[in-house]
Amino acid sequence: MSRVAYVNGAYVPLRGAGVSIMDRGFQFADSIYEVWAIRGGRLFDVDEHMARLQRSLAELRITPPMGEASLMAVIRETIRRNRVHDGIVYVQVSRGAANRDHVFPPPRTPPTLIVTAKNLDQRAIAARASAGIKVTSTAETRWARRDIKTVNLLPNVLARQGAKEQGAFEAWFVDGGGHVTEGASSNAWIVDASGVLRTRALSKDILHGVTRGAILRLAQERQMKIEERPFTLAEAKEAREAFITAASNAATAVVEIDGVRIGDGKPGPVTEALRAAYLGA
Ligand SMILES: Cc1ncc(COP(=O)(O)O)c(C=O)c1O
Repeated sequence: MSRVAYVNGAYVPLRGAGVSIMDRGFQFADSIYEVWAIRGGRLFDVDEHMARLQRSLAELRITPPMGEASLMAVIRETIRRNRVHDGIVYVQVSRGAANRDHVFPPPRTPPTLIVTAKNLDQRAIAARASAGIKVTSTAETRWARRDIKTVNLLPNVLARQGAKEQGAFEAWFVDGGGHVTEGASSNAWIVDASGVLRTRALSKDILHGVTRGAILRLAQERQMKIEERPFTLAEAKEAREAFITAASNAATAVVEIDGVRIGDGKPGPVTEALRAAYLGA
C-alpha cells in the first residue's frame, strides 16, 4: 500500500510529496514537530502531545496552521489513510516558505504543515523491550531551549549515529557537571543504588517528555520512592535499573551504559511494572 502525506491542505502520495526549497524548516530548522504513538489503533496521550505542540509553536511565535480540532481531524485522517494500527504519527509545522532572511517573514506568510503516519515493527519494539537496550554517553552540545520540540536535531542525529556505530540504540547527553540530561530521542531514568526512581526535573535543559509525565504519574500512584533530581553518569552505571521513555518506545530498559552492565543485565522489575502499566497490560 502506498503511503499518503498531508501537506498544506492536501493528501498526496508520500513518494514525491514536497515543500518549497525556500521553506524555513529546510533553510533554518525554523520548525517544530510532535509525535504520537498509536497502539492497537488507539492514539496515546492525545491531549498532552497536542498541548506540547501548541506550546512549541507559541514559544517560537509560529502561527498555528489551523485550530486544534481541525488538526486532530487531519491527524486521524492521515492515520486512517495509511492504515496505521501500531505506529506513529508526525506533525511538523514550519514558519513557512519565504525569501531567505533570518528575520521572520511577512506576517501573512502561511506556516507549512505536514502530517505523516507509519506502522512500526511491533515485534522489533517488543524484542527491544524484553532484551533491554545499550546506551552510550556523549557530551551535551545542544542549545539552551531543549524544552521546545524543534526539528533542530543535528546534535541528536550525531549522537544517535555515534551510538549506533558503537552497537548501542540510544545516546545519553551528559552536561558539564557530569549529570545526564536526557537521551537523543528519549528521557532518561534510573532506579538508583538505594532504590529511588530518579529522573531529571523539568527545565529548559530537557524535553518535557509526555511519556515521562505519564510514567511519573503511574509511579506516584504506586507510591514508589521518586526524586526528580539529576543523576550523574557514574550513578547511572551503579544503578539497580535504568530505562528510557519516549512515545515510540514507552518505557524501555537500559541494560548497558558505555559497556558497563546495569543491574543483572536484564530489564528490572520497576521498569517492567511501569512499562506494563503504561501500555495497559
Ligand atoms: C530529546 C527528546 N527527549 C525526550 C523525548 C521523549 O518525549 P515523549 O515521551 O514526549 O515522546 C523525545 C522524543 O522524541 C526526544 O526527542
